[in-house]
Amino acid sequence: MKANNNPGKFYVTTPIYYVNSIPHVGHSYTTIAADVLARSARQEGKEVFFLTGTDEHGEKIAKASEAVGKTPKEFCDEISAKFRYVWDKLNISYDYFIRTTDKKHEDAVKKFLSNLHENGLIYKGKYEGLYCRGCEKFLQKNDIVEGKCPLHLTEPELLKEENYFFKLSDYRDKLIELIENDTIEILPIALKKEVLSKLILGIEDISISRQTVQWGINLPFDDSQTIYVWIDALINYISSIGYADDSKNFSKWWPADVHLMAKDICWFHAVIWPAMLLAVGEKTPKKLFVHGFFTVEGQKMSKSLGNMIDPLPLVEEYGADTLRYFLLTEFPFDHDGDFSIRRLEERYNNDLANDLGNLVLRILTMIEKYCEGKIPAANDEANNIKIKSIKLDLSAQLNIRNREIEAAEFSKVLVNIMNLIRETNRIIEEYAPWNLAKQKDTDSLNTLLYYLAQRLATIAILIYPFLPNTSEVIFRQLGLEVPSAFSIKENLITLLPNKKIKKEKPLFPKK
Ligand code: MSP
Repeated sequence: MKANNNPGKFYVTTPIYYVNSIPHVGHSYTTIAADVLARSARQEGKEVFFLTGTDEHGEKIAKASEAVGKTPKEFCDEISAKFRYVWDKLNISYDYFIRTTDKKHEDAVKKFLSNLHENGLIYKGKYEGLYCRGCEKFLQKNDIVEGKCPLHLTEPELLKEENYFFKLSDYRDKLIELIENDTIEILPIALKKEVLSKLILGIEDISISRQTVQWGINLPFDDSQTIYVWIDALINYISSIGYADDSKNFSKWWPADVHLMAKDICWFHAVIWPAMLLAVGEKTPKKLFVHGFFTVEGQKMSKSLGNMIDPLPLVEEYGADTLRYFLLTEFPFDHDGDFSIRRLEERYNNDLANDLGNLVLRILTMIEKYCEGKIPAANDEANNIKIKSIKLDLSAQLNIRNREIEAAEFSKVLVNIMNLIRETNRIIEEYAPWNLAKQKDTDSLNTLLYYLAQRLATIAILIYPFLPNTSEVIFRQLGLEVPSAFSIKENLITLLPNKKIKKEKPLFPKK
């Protein structure tokens, strides 16, 4: 393969979600995190390809469609459309939505499997093992807790089949090397260590086909079997960029910069997927960001446990930006966290309504009242203003923010931004512009308001990947065309004096 000679590109993916469940806040979490990475990379001027989609084959889906009296395809069309609907409501800026029932995908899967076969990496064998239908995978002895799958709380079934196998074990040493030296970087480090220690204990070859599953893609070299849904699904990351039909596009985007997921499917992405790629001579993904689970009363949120929280009513009530903010600020990326509406309300009222919403309203109201609704001109010699302590250096802030986003430290970024917002509110208290107005110190008042408006614009840029709608509304109110109509001079945003502001109704009205 050719080297990736486009350093300004950024390819980010979410897992493709099973259509046997409707989208819940667990799926939303991963997708919003990917959206933050994509938006921040676009802000940095990179060319971005942001992929998400739905995983539509396999027994689980066939059963779910049967249960509601639909054909699998009808069923998949419906739920896949729901995922897209929810992502649109959450303002997810994906570039492509892959469905594993797309012809383009099926062609790529067949091509990939033919390549594996031609390279002599597939053989026929018998399999006997304990299978969890919820996970759609065979469980190893140490995956089972008290006779049950710990994720689905169901007993795995004994399955005996004649299947085709992929020589996964051939890649053990290579994988250890690539993970150890961060060619495949796994974050957080704890998971990297977990994967490495499992690899060191040894890995077995895996079965890549199913005799009894009908709803799947046929094996290109034996159409009496369908391809195991996980093998089919992983290939989405290359089918969508033209693995089967557009080699130029493929070599432009591959390897992916980041695959995002929760820890339940880390092994598939850290071990099976890279081994499959090595086996056909392709590069391995650069980075895996693995996050924790949202739990409800301590249990993983999932269809099988029936404790899913639907994001739509929350978006309806509080707005997409609130849910985006809440999910990413509440827990560090690598921790599990219990989802609570009470906490969401608290965050809404305290952080978004009190701190951010209020700040926007205060600054715009003062510009309206004291400056005839126009951005005032600053005078850096103004008597009563310590300019240095008010100026907010955009480039420095962006640097910090981008490094933290690249390390998936989303909650840290949001804490920093909230601190800047609170600091700006404190600056207003400290300088009491209403007193400057009383004293008729117009010079100081104008200067203060100019720099407050500039801080607001800076904050709007910083929050953009997380709260894109709020960011745009702030810009619009400051009379700036969205999204990038500002210039930067000496690391500060330049606002045009005399430009009319357009105050709108308060953001995040208190509940
Ligand atoms: N279809 C496979 C993925 C194939 S990718 C090649 C699958 N689908 S899934 O619908 O079960 O989605 C799993 C992913 O959804 C998790 O890895 C995570 O990204 C997200 N989440 C699902 N439930 C979640 C929580 N309760 N908490 C956090 N993330 C959750 O596995």
